Formats: sequence, C-alpha cells, structure tokens
Amino acid sequence: MRSGFPFYICFLPLSLFEHTSRCGARKIICFCYNKNMLEESLEESKENSLIEVSNLTKKFKDFTAVNNISFNVKQGEIFGFLGPNGAGKSTTIKMLITLLVPTSGKADVDGHDIVHDSSKVRKTIGYVSQMISVDGTLTAYENLMLMARLYDITPKAERVKRIHETLSFLNLEDHANSLVRTFSGGMIRKMEVGQAMLHRPKVLFLDEPTTGLDPVAQQSVWEHLFKLRDTMGTTIFFSTHNMEEADKVSDRVAIINEGKIAIIGTPEEIKAKTGKPNSNLEDAFIFFTGNKLQDKSNFREIRRNRRTEQRLG
Ligand SMILES: Nc1ncnc2c1ncn2[C@@H]1O[C@H](COP(=O)(O)OP(=O)(O)O)[C@@H](O)[C@H]1O
Ligand SMILES: [Mg+2]
Repeated sequence: MRSGFPFYICFLPLSLFEHTSRCGARKIICFCYNKNMLEESLEESKENSLIEVSNLTKKFKDFTAVNNISFNVKQGEIFGFLGPNGAGKSTTIKMLITLLVPTSGKADVDGHDIVHDSSKVRKTIGYVSQMISVDGTLTAYENLMLMARLYDITPKAERVKRIHETLSFLNLEDHANSLVRTFSGGMIRKMEVGQAMLHRPKVLFLDEPTTGLDPVAQQSVWEHLFKLRDTMGTTIFFSTHNMEEADKVSDRVAIINEGKIAIIGTPEEIKAKTGKPNSNLEDAFIFFTGNKLQDKSNFREIRRNRRTEQRLG
C-alpha cells in the first residue's frame, strides 16, 4: 500500500440533524464582542502556526455543520477544541485530516493545503478517531505492526524498532503479546495513540480521546500526550465536550457552538473575559454563546458514542 494515512477505518454514516437557530439580542452583542477578540487572538497566534484555518465551512446539503471558522494552532501547542455534542468538532477534524472536503474556506497543516496537498497533509498528521480503531483479536504488537506497514515504515528492522519504542513509551511493553480485547479502556486509548504516533507525525488529532474513560485512565492518557509533546514537540489538537478536562490540559482552547467559534484563548484568558470571579469554562461557554450547554447530536451519534463508551468502560 502507498505511504500515507490509513484510510481503512470506517466511519458510521451520520444523518442530518434538524436544526433551528435562536438568535436573541444577547447573542448579537456576544457576537460583536467576540468578533474583535477572535481577530486579535488570530493575529497573535499566527506566529509559528502549524495549523492555519481561514473561513472554513462545511455544509451537508442545506445544513451548515461548520460555519466560517478561523483559527491558528502553534507548533507544540496543546489545543482544545471544545463544544457540546453536535457543535461541529468532528466535522472540523475530518476536514483538517483530509477525510472531508470543505464546502468553502481554506486550511493549511504544516504549510500544506488540506485540499490541494492532501497526501502531504496525511504524512504530517496522526489521528485518533472518536470510535475504537484497534483490533481486539490481535495482540498489541500485531496491531502496531499492521499500522507500521500501512504507514509504509521500512525496512522491517525499523518497524520492529519503532514498535518497541512505542510500547516502551506507553508503558505497555509487558502487554506486547496480549490480545487487545483484554485491555482496559485506558490501555486501548494508549494503543490508539501509539498507532497514530508510529510515523512520528508533527501533529496529532484526537477526537474526544478520553470520553468514556474513568479519571485514572484519563490522567494516564494525558500523561502520555504531555510526554509526546515534551519529548518530540508534537502538536496536540484534541476535541472534547468536557469543559473541566479542556481547562486542565490545554494551552489554548477554541469554544465552538452550532458550527461557529465563539471565543479562542488560554483557559485563563477566556475565564477572565467573562468579568466574573471564579468563572469556569462552562460559565464562559454560556457567557460567550448565550446558550446553555446542550447536546445537539442525533440518535445515531448518541448510540455510537455510548457503544464506544461501553467498550472502553
Ligand atoms: N455526514 C453528515 N451528514 C449530515 N449531517 C452531518 C454529517 N456529519 C455530521 N453532521 C451533522 O453536523 C453536526 C455536527 O456534527 P459533528 O461535527 O459530528 O459534531 P461534534 O463532533 O461536535 O459532536 C451535527 O448536527 C451532525 O448531525
Ligand atoms: Mg464528534
């Protein structure tokens, strides 16, 4: 197989969500206020940016899932893409990893255009899907070998070396020959991180990497992601609907709601901009969107997420 991103991972079809927009006066004020702040933070973050997104939009028929979003992610940053279910997080990630073609707008990853240079983008990135992407009937070693071959890592000695390095990096060496179906949820997620880092990508995209994990497993996954960033300089772009998690681990976050980015900044900046002492990111979400946190995903998506959670839990 050609080198590049392993596209054998299948996605369940998602159906269109009937969607109505409620645009009150408060929301319009928030929008004007946010627009200036968004432009300022966009200018600031252009320096050393590895991901540059400009007016990116994705429509599914007449429904706009991602609506004219712009942001930059700096080299080596841990960037949280934060919003409720149905906000447009996975759709954005799928555009950035070249699985979906944008309806309009532009994005570059490491200087490569996601539409015109998609094969170069695929070599630069790693991806951990929202759904489970390891094969439970194979051992940890076999799963990693499969992925090393899909990524076209050659020669064989190099594949074997990288697999051992990866297992050691993830503290999974003792489980190299165990079937992955015997693994805990945290170990499965770590395996998926391992698969996605084998070809040493500059940026790792993780779609809801800790959903369904208990707090100890969550922490373990994050310890390894921090280590990846600190030792290899890997940029981490992750999505979550968990405001507390985003607050704890992100250098910067973008809050996305109903396909639009409401605010971008460090968690501290965003909380401070609400003007209320002791605000958390959930308060900030309500302040900047004018909305309560609402799950906008449809039945099929909820069923799919619950299945993933059950398998990890
Ligand atoms: N292939 C698709 N066809 C139609 N609608 C879709 C498709 N993919 C996503 N959507 C809709 O776009 C919206 C955003 O979805 P998604 O990006 O998966 O949200 P999130 O990842 O934030 O939960 C949802 O309303 C979803 O139903
Ligand atoms: Mg999603």
